[in-house]
Amino acid sequence: MSQIPQEKIEEVRLASDIVAVVSGYLTLRQKGRNYFGLCPFHKEKTASFSVNSELQIFHCFGCGAGGNVFSFIMKIEGLTFPEAVRLLAKQANISLPEDAENMAEYREKEALYFANELAAQLFQQLIRSEQAVDARRYLQERGIAEDEFDGFGIGYAANAWDGLIKYARTKTVNIEVLHRAGLVIQKDDGGFYDRFRGRITFAIKNLTGQVVGFGARRIVNDTSPKYINSPETDIYQKRFILYGLHQSRDAIRKSDEVVIVEGYTDLTSLYRVNVRNVVATSGTALTEDHARLLRRYTSNAILLYDADSAGAAAAIRGADILLENGLEVKICVMPTGLDPDEYARRRGEEEVKKLLLSAVPLMEFKLTKFESASRHGSSSQKAAETRQIVASIARVNDPIRRSFLVRDLSERLKIDEASLWKEITQLERQNRFRGHEEEKPETDDKFFHTSQGNAELGLLEVSLRHPDLIARILKNLHVDDISHPEIRLLFQEFLKGVDPLTFQPQTFLALVQDQTVAAKLSNIMVQDNPHPKPWDFARDCLIRFHLALVDNDIQRIREKMKSSSSSDGGINTLMDELKYYLDERKKIQAGQYIVE
Ligand code: UTP
Ligand code: MN
Repeated sequence: MSQIPQEKIEEVRLASDIVAVVSGYLTLRQKGRNYFGLCPFHKEKTASFSVNSELQIFHCFGCGAGGNVFSFIMKIEGLTFPEAVRLLAKQANISLPEDAENMAEYREKEALYFANELAAQLFQQLIRSEQAVDARRYLQERGIAEDEFDGFGIGYAANAWDGLIKYARTKTVNIEVLHRAGLVIQKDDGGFYDRFRGRITFAIKNLTGQVVGFGARRIVNDTSPKYINSPETDIYQKRFILYGLHQSRDAIRKSDEVVIVEGYTDLTSLYRVNVRNVVATSGTALTEDHARLLRRYTSNAILLYDADSAGAAAAIRGADILLENGLEVKICVMPTGLDPDEYARRRGEEEVKKLLLSAVPLMEFKLTKFESASRHGSSSQKAAETRQIVASIARVNDPIRRSFLVRDLSERLKIDEASLWKEITQLERQNRFRGHEEEKPETDDKFFHTSQGNAELGLLEVSLRHPDLIARILKNLHVDDISHPEIRLLFQEFLKGVDPLTFQPQTFLALVQDQTVAAKLSNIMVQDNPHPKPWDFARDCLIRFHLALVDNDIQRIREKMKSSSSSDGGINTLMDELKYYLDERKKIQAGQYIVE
């Protein structure tokens, strides 16, 4: 994803008051300098979630969550940093050019969004019009009420070749754009016609709620495909989009579980029986990107697929992908012949909830299948089947979970754990070559428990609280020696010069993108100043910082000494070096190097 210019991020931040943004999600009450409310990130009865409007940060004393307005949006909406900036930018009516080189791409995407929005508008108007009598009757027969149309983005595409084309003309939208948005199809003679005709349309939205494409169902039982879908475009990449995620994610987060179905109508019918933590794959196979997307909201998934063999096979493939990406997966088997939509409509809420509770963990599901299939199988067939099960365990990244799965499997199949592990180690070696695309790791909390981490954080804290000390601190360290990349970045900003009189700590807090650092800092900053003598504290941090650095040197030399033999002439040089650093260490400790 392209980089958003820093000054744009700043503009968005300034336009997004954290108190107002947070108030959109929970009720805040003012108490002194801070606002308090019930933390949306953990269950609690007393309000330990606080927002400081002066510093524009939030912090929960209960669960330790904290950060600025971007961190809040990232956490509550499950977005990445750029996505959070975009969402707030949209709310603040700030347009983001992404970056200058990508201006053309940005404009193109905006055009595609606009075309889809336009089509959605038209379809939603039409579903209530005279032309859509049959469509409405059809929907009524399927139990979809009129007041549900807008919520699910349900509309109607006129039974004409140029319904959308004509409408777009009145809105001066270029037909080429409609074409690139996949809404019209080009004929051999160069002309265009509407892709969706005489069908019920389901608007497919991205996480920010923008329409990116459509699925359209026929309403007559002819030989045409049951559903016609938008093709992939720059804004509709099927591997990233799940139908309904935009509206279901809140429920998914709250219930800490996602129900995955195949069809649009499966989703709408589940909503009607109050199952709202649901998304639909709408005909595409589950991808690794889908899994990562869901992982932002929950680590528990239930696959609710048709009982037919295609449905079960798809479920298992999808389940493996989810499992590999860190989700606990359960499979829910539908009674033969029914899909979730029909089941929900015929049996109602109670039965659906019971069905979901009957979901079995993936391994269990595989084992049961395996046991019934292999009852009469040969031993080599059984071995092959076992390997398949072991293969999916090998893909689980979390080692603890993996050992539990192995233990289970060993008990069920009466195969000793050692043989299973042997197989797994072998598979792992193969898997490693597949190469995993690593996401940028968040800082490990452990770093801040080391002397160096603690000193670096302390220096940052005291700088933010007492900007008048920044110049003095900078005199006492080389910014490049700071080992934490985000803290180093902030000090590099300080180097550009700060005016203690106009200094705004929130401007710098806003630069922090690492969520561990953001939470740590907010935690410190919302508390009352604990340093009655700030320079003494800074001085102490500086000493610990330099001690940590010199200790690294000492450590390095000791390692070298260990590996060189005593007959080696180099050992003397090393001894001298060591002596020098130990001497340095004493001086640092005594504060001799501190420039006051
Ligand atoms: P299903 O065939 O199970 O359809 O396909 P459904 O959801 O039960 O549809 P209804 O209830 O008859 O209306 C599941 C999903 O696969 C995609 C659609 O997204 C559908 O919801 N699909 C299916 C297509 O894209 N094209 C098709 O021709 C059929
Ligand atoms: Mn169906």
